[in-house]
Amino acid sequence: MEVVAVVPAAGSGERLGAGSPKALVEVAGVAMVTRAVDGLLASGVVDEVIVVAPPDHLEEMAAVTTTGRVVPGGHDRVASVALGLAEAPDADVVLVHDAARCLCPAAVVSAVVEAVRAGAPAVVPAIPVADTVRRARPEGGVELVDRTGLLAVQTPQGFDADLLRRAHAAAGEHRATDDAGLVEALGGRIVTVPGDPRAFKITTPLDLAMAEALVRAL
Ligand code: CTP
Ligand code: MG
Repeated sequence: MEVVAVVPAAGSGERLGAGSPKALVEVAGVAMVTRAVDGLLASGVVDEVIVVAPPDHLEEMAAVTTTGRVVPGGHDRVASVALGLAEAPDADVVLVHDAARCLCPAAVVSAVVEAVRAGAPAVVPAIPVADTVRRARPEGGVELVDRTGLLAVQTPQGFDADLLRRAHAAAGEHRATDDAGLVEALGGRIVTVPGDPRAFKITTPLDLAMAEALVRAL
């Protein structure tokens, strides 16, 4: 069973505001994309990694990712994942893992792959939401959302490869924020495995500072 990981790393990182593509930004001296790829390979359950990079930074991405192929990405995350997926026609299992979640422990990667191998066609790591949650009403004011059972979803997300191909083929204008969202739109059931706080997404300068502190503390 061939397990291929697609790493969307083609975003510009506007909210981080580093002036270069986010995946190339270093966390304690090592680029996020490097850490993400190495973390996937360290799990021992991934056969190949395909990095999806900004079209004008292909060489830089290739230079910092020793293993893995580097292909140009698209205008949003869904398009980037689809372009990476197209490079893995022989994959049986596909993982999709944000470069920006570069400190995800290897144990999460193997748990996701194990669940797909055990027969779950769509698997996401998730952790309970810690904050109290309210939804803003369009007419003003906020309403309390019952937090019971609410989960924050992370990556890597793992899929039966054919199911993910069908989900992307059917995506059309549906711009889901993750791949499980596309699968669900097809009627697929999503299974969760325990995520890990270290798999948080580096989005803002504060997240980057927290990631640096985490690396130094480990
Ligand atoms: N991504 C991608 N192609 C895009 C947009 C995003 O491959 N066109 C990737 C990012 O590189 C990142 C992941 O999707 O690894 C999650 O996206 P996000 O954290 O939003 O990253 P950016 O889009 O780069 O950040 P921002 O939204 O702040 O610009
Ligand atoms: Mg984005």
